[in-house]
Amino acid sequence: MLNSISSQASKLINLTKKKYIKTKTKIIAVTSGKGGVGKSTMTANMAYLFSLYGKKVAVLDADIGLANMQILFNLKPKVTLFDYMENKAKIKDIILSTPYSNISLIAGKSGHTFAHINSSDIYSRVVCDIAELNEFDILLIDTGAGLNEHVQEFLSVSDEIVALTTPDPSALTDVYALLKMLSSSKKRLFLVFNQTTNYKIGEAITKSLKDLALKNRLNKNFMVKYIGNVIPDLNISTTGRLRKLFAKEFAGSGSALDLDKIVHNLVKEISC
Ligand SMILES: Nc1ncnc2c1ncn2[C@@H]1O[C@H](COP(=O)(O)OP(=O)(O)O)[C@@H](O)[C@H]1O
Ligand SMILES: [Mg+2]
Repeated sequence: MLNSISSQASKLINLTKKKYIKTKTKIIAVTSGKGGVGKSTMTANMAYLFSLYGKKVAVLDADIGLANMQILFNLKPKVTLFDYMENKAKIKDIILSTPYSNISLIAGKSGHTFAHINSSDIYSRVVCDIAELNEFDILLIDTGAGLNEHVQEFLSVSDEIVALTTPDPSALTDVYALLKMLSSSKKRLFLVFNQTTNYKIGEAITKSLKDLALKNRLNKNFMVKYIGNVIPDLNISTTGRLRKLFAKEFAGSGSALDLDKIVHNLVKEISC
């Protein structure tokens, strides 16, 4: 029943290769097994909510080939992370201001990937270089879906990982594969259930995933922590299409409050 993602997981790279950097910046990857679960939308809106908690946030669009974060932030970037990787721009030049105070974007480029992959840690170096600036409280990475080598590299340099899923069986299969992969090298994984009508559904599914992990004798010290759900809400897709953030435009709505609880939990957990 496991689909292609499991075979990707077996080609595991070392997920603990973060080089030693001295920085206040917490690197949080938002990832998912499956595409289309709402990862980019939630990442952009989480950045906004983190900023309301007084955090200075940078968002890195690491969905290589399918970058779309610039749309959610209503920007038309002239420089992207590829300009830095291709030595055409300095690190500070690729950090763009957004219409929101205390949120910066490092944009990707749709349809573009780094052509000269002769160095396997090129993407993780970008992350470390941004963190090393010591300017941001939080660097949020939208990793793209799946477990390909780009995603694994971004996960390898992250302090914390948030897996976004839906209760859909195929999304859950993929999230279990992710959990399995991370269990041998990371200390914990936060789980968020999107498009999920109530908190208890996510809680029950998290319990099943943990039971399965136990049955399959995954690393007992690896923690899976459920930090909340976001209900399905038409306003989310509408605001996205209008290049706006639902957490701002519909502040106080059920979905915005759901995401705020998640961000609040993260602020508590990562003590940044
Ligand atoms: N909770 C939700 N309710 C309704 N629509 C949502 C919700 N979360 C995300 N969406 C919509 O789902 C679509 C896919 O979201 P997106 O963030 O692009 O997914 P991903 O980055 O995982 O591929 C978008 O149209 C987005 O507005
Ligand atoms: Mg996306």
